[in-house]
Amino acid sequence: MRYRIIIFLLLFLTAGFQAHAAPDGGELYARNCAACHGEKGESGIGVPLTLPSFQATASDDYLRKTIRLGRPGRVMPASTLSDTEIDAIVGFIRGWGRQSRAPSFPTTPIQGNVEHGSRLFATQCATCHGANGEGGKGTGVTFSRPRDQQIMAPALNNPGFLAAASDAMIKAILVKGRDGTPMSHFTGKESALEDINDLVSFIRSFEKIPKHLTAAVLETEQAVLIKDSPYDLATTIANVKLAAISNNFIFIREQRLAYGLVPEGQEDPRQHIVYFCNFNMLNSALATDPRVGLFLPCRITVVEQNGKVKMMAVNPKRLSKIFNNTELNALCDEMTKRYLAIMEDATI
Ligand code: HEC
Ligand code: HEC
Repeated sequence: MRYRIIIFLLLFLTAGFQAHAAPDGGELYARNCAACHGEKGESGIGVPLTLPSFQATASDDYLRKTIRLGRPGRVMPASTLSDTEIDAIVGFIRGWGRQSRAPSFPTTPIQGNVEHGSRLFATQCATCHGANGEGGKGTGVTFSRPRDQQIMAPALNNPGFLAAASDAMIKAILVKGRDGTPMSHFTGKESALEDINDLVSFIRSFEKIPKHLTAAVLETEQAVLIKDSPYDLATTIANVKLAAISNNFIFIREQRLAYGLVPEGQEDPRQHIVYFCNFNMLNSALATDPRVGLFLPCRITVVEQNGKVKMMAVNPKRLSKIFNNTELNALCDEMTKRYLAIMEDATI
């Protein structure tokens, strides 16, 4: 009996201990970051986090803020984890850079000549980082990009980056470069330290660009597009197929919504789904962001409820926000217009 009490007490104590144990940074990293930055931080859709050159020019404060704020519109999501959880992830990332201690940088602003910095930027940085610091097209390492571009240049005008990086840290990146990436150092003959100060001040001046230009994510209240049909179920389905074709899509198939989810023959006969595709759009969407594949091919659901027939589709504009990817904006906007056109045509 006494043993049982002791065992019970031990279990109780260890359970309590586990509940209060520090969060496991490795586990949190695996769950929240590995899909994009690689299990071992070797990179993927996100940039590499293990390189000694990265570790040497990224302070803990920068990592914390980058995780918290993300990079709005540039795929890297903002995090809702607790501060202790974020600290645990930072500790885990630091574990990869054991050779170098975490650097820290003063927060004092650097005073440089913005005008001169802007000229230097146009000739030395814009080819990779874009004329206004908007970053390379495509993000990270595996998105569609020129094969000779090993890693896409991050957006420097991004509010997430500007809020996370201090002037002194940006200066350190320019002085040291990031060995192992296309980002070289700028302490060659033409780039005196004064020039670097001018560049830092120019990058800081991106903060004045309105946020809707640097971090534009399409806003829409409507998660789902819905339209009533004046026709019966079978006619509406036939109309959607024809309307898709006349809007430059190829009809793929039509099936009951629950097909494959319930035993065959037991699907609700009043819920159908029509699949269609435009291969040009599909290819350009996948090249921009492979995650769009989750929502492809295009689909419109047709349901009958209380004798009324409705057409429904996920609003493609939502994808820009879900995927935090500005580059999808034009495509999402276009897709929403086409979905609405198909639904409209199907009711004529
Ligand atoms: C959906 C993909 C995705 C996820 C998930 C993600 N990231 Fe990122 N991350 C990116 C991309 C893409 C960039 C580069 C942004 C750019 O190109 O402007 C980036 C940038 C960063 C940077 C800045 C790197 C530098 O060179 O200064 C850090 C640090 C970072 N991510 C850490 C993390 C951590 C830690 C997590 C998990 C909490 C995480 N990321 C989750 C895609 C992702
Ligand atoms: C050949 C292409 C290329 C050129 C030219 C280039 N960069 Fe970069 N830059 C990159 C890449 C790629 C990265 C990401 C490195 C990494 O993954 O750590 C980067 C990273 C940076 C970063 C860190 C941003 C972050 O989120 O990690 C800053 C700041 C920066 N570059 C500024 C500049 C400035 C200023 C110039 C011009 C003097 C310049 N770069 C020229 C490709 C380039």
